[in-house]
Amino acid sequence: MTDLEDVDWTFDGYDTQEYTHGLHPYPARMVPQIVRALLSYYKHKGVIEAGDLVYDPFSGSGTTTVEGRLADLNTKANDINPLATLLTRAKSCPLDVDQMMDFRDKVMEDLAADLRRTRERYEDGGAFDDIREPEVRDGWFPQPHLLELCVIRNRISEVESNWDNGNEDDLGRFFRVALSKTTRRVSFQRNGEYKRYRLAEEDRETHDPNVYRIFANKVEENVDLMKEYSQRVNHDRSTEVYLADSRTAEDIKTNSADIVITSPPYGDHGTTVAYGQFSQDPAIVAWGRGYDEMREVDKEGLGGKNRKLEPLDTLEELSPALAATLETLREKEGRAEDAMEFFRDYYAVMEQVARVTKPGNPVAWVVANRTMSRVNIPTHLITKELCQHLGFEHQYMLAREIPNKTLPWSNAPENVSGVTGDLMAKENIVVMSAPDN
Ligand SMILES: C[S@@+](CC[C@H](N)C(=O)[O-])C[C@H]1O[C@@H](n2cnc3c(N)ncnc32)[C@H](O)[C@@H]1O
Repeated sequence: MTDLEDVDWTFDGYDTQEYTHGLHPYPARMVPQIVRALLSYYKHKGVIEAGDLVYDPFSGSGTTTVEGRLADLNTKANDINPLATLLTRAKSCPLDVDQMMDFRDKVMEDLAADLRRTRERYEDGGAFDDIREPEVRDGWFPQPHLLELCVIRNRISEVESNWDNGNEDDLGRFFRVALSKTTRRVSFQRNGEYKRYRLAEEDRETHDPNVYRIFANKVEENVDLMKEYSQRVNHDRSTEVYLADSRTAEDIKTNSADIVITSPPYGDHGTTVAYGQFSQDPAIVAWGRGYDEMREVDKEGLGGKNRKLEPLDTLEELSPALAATLETLREKEGRAEDAMEFFRDYYAVMEQVARVTKPGNPVAWVVANRTMSRVNIPTHLITKELCQHLGFEHQYMLAREIPNKTLPWSNAPENVSGVTGDLMAKENIVVMSAPDN
């Protein structure tokens, strides 16, 4: 590779599910090949080397940390969504293949018969005082399927507690990923929707998924993916994942990251991608998280209802693109306040990234532009200008088409001045170099 500008960043037709990337879905996942190309470029240039640290403040399901491990780096990540941190760990930490197979055999042993007995007991009207039901909302799961999911959950916990090799957390987490995916398939959640939408009533009546089959198939698929990954990566490198807010990034040391690669949310979770809604049932059923905790996730995200920071009225003076956007929103009586709150939070993350990244080292923001009140928000320009104000230097603006992606801005929005219409279908990779601290 000679230069980042020569890369076709679309990566249309590439396998985005290889290695552990295919263990579990997550909304708005980053394309692994983007991270791979950036890491390989900066390694080739001698900017980073084996054993350096890559950090992702918006980890999601861990695309950056998985690619970081594949590139022989140490990895750190933050996310405010408990499901995201669990998936990041499960996907990034390699396993001892023999132990994984041994654990799998123990989880699967007589499981089909156990689930059959649960079903028969349910059909006979038996009581289930011995099975603690998770805090899911009424009307979102068929029965006895929910009880069957609980039996699998209990089985994983039992194998975990009888395991005495010291790595039961890693192994248990890995098998819960398959249960987490099974939970989504078994529930009344409509397929292909990231928000919570239930199947229509008539479809709910006939929804009778085979819990054992779905789980067993997913376990086999995940075991194969993990085998390939674990054989590829250096087990001596580390992955540290924090359930933490990147607006403060307290666990990440100053000047510690050699490179940052991240994809921020498009906007507040409520009106763009509802990561918390997507994660609720899997996190509650497979991982024992609480209903109240999961309900907070979308309010905790950037621009969310749980306001953490004082307003920063001068923010728009720091970015002409933000000022133009807010002016257009105000003229159209659009949601200028919401846009302001989102960028205020995003700016706090930029400040923290400036603090934790070694001076001069690369920071790549993979951003998508959204619309609000039919106004195109040029997030790529705003990212560049706000970063420049913090002393970052601009290196590259790499545009990419998004193959086959249905995004909320596809219905003919209007643009702010200076931003052309064809940017709508694109993501941009904004590459900056970090300032001196
Ligand atoms: C676009 S997704 C990242 C997807 C990820 N790159 C992947 O490939 O799976 C954005 C993530 O930012 C997280 N997030 C939102 N606000 C946050 C905050 N204040 N601190 C940390 N993470 C946050 C969301 O929970 C979501 O997982």
